[in-house]
Amino acid sequence: MTPEVRQDLEISNLLETIYKKYGYDFREYSAAHISRRIKNRLILSGISSVAEMERAVIQDKKFAYQVLQDFSITVTEMFRDPGFYLSLRKNIIPLLRTYPFIKVWHAGCSSGEEAYSMAIILHEEGLYERTTIYATDFNQQTLDKARDGIFSNDLMKEYTANYQLAGGKESFSNYYTAHYDHVIMNQHLKKNIVWANHNLVTDSVFAEVHLVLCRNVLIYFERNLQNKVQKLLFDSLINGGILCLGSKEGLRFTDFFEAYWELDKKHRIFKKKY
Ligand SMILES: C[S@@+](CC[C@H](N)C(=O)[O-])C[C@H]1O[C@@H](n2cnc3c(N)ncnc32)[C@H](O)[C@@H]1O
Repeated sequence: MTPEVRQDLEISNLLETIYKKYGYDFREYSAAHISRRIKNRLILSGISSVAEMERAVIQDKKFAYQVLQDFSITVTEMFRDPGFYLSLRKNIIPLLRTYPFIKVWHAGCSSGEEAYSMAIILHEEGLYERTTIYATDFNQQTLDKARDGIFSNDLMKEYTANYQLAGGKESFSNYYTAHYDHVIMNQHLKKNIVWANHNLVTDSVFAEVHLVLCRNVLIYFERNLQNKVQKLLFDSLINGGILCLGSKEGLRFTDFFEAYWELDKKHRIFKKKY
């Protein structure tokens, strides 16, 4: 057996063990992503092989939790890809305005920046009061951070620039209270956001929504899993509902390519056909 095949086998055993013991299913995550994260953890923890790592995962719950954190990449920003938010404001808000109430789902919301960005746009467009935002992630630690809405002050310069490029209508600093090294997002923005733990791989539809944002999540999944999650997103959307994906994600290799109209090719915005 070559060392590569042996390692592939060990990785698949590790993922199987994590699933059986802890219920988190990474078996169809991108092999390159999982392998990179495992290598990194091996170096950091001084463990010499994936098989040994598997034993540590079984015996040490804290270590297992660390590995789950490793597999969940939580990089995010306020108004990430400002052009996307500008398009959302111009092209999707008028559509949302036609509904008496609005439900939005941020699937894989990480530490919440995306949901706060949406709350700000909806507020500025006069729609926030009739909206419920479901912001979900399977990573409880990052979800707790999102609920607190506390972010580093150092990021505010970049976020302010993003907000302006995204068509922001006020001063971004109106939306938070600044403290010494951190800011706290306004209570008003949190009012209609429901934070919840939801796993896109193992949990099911929980609401019928008008708009889904699942951005920069599916990029870490193999094609078969992407397809499975796309079904979940499709089933969660009303007819005519809007799906937003990340800049490197699409529907082309899924069963749902024909099920949507492409509203904005560059910013990956799709409308579910009737
Ligand atoms: C790179 S972040 C993207 C955050 C935000 N959507 C954005 O575009 O900035 C990916 C998020 O997906 C979450 N994630 C990964 N697998 C998931 C799963 N099976 N169910 C729910 N969330 C998942 C991770 O925990 C992480 O917070």
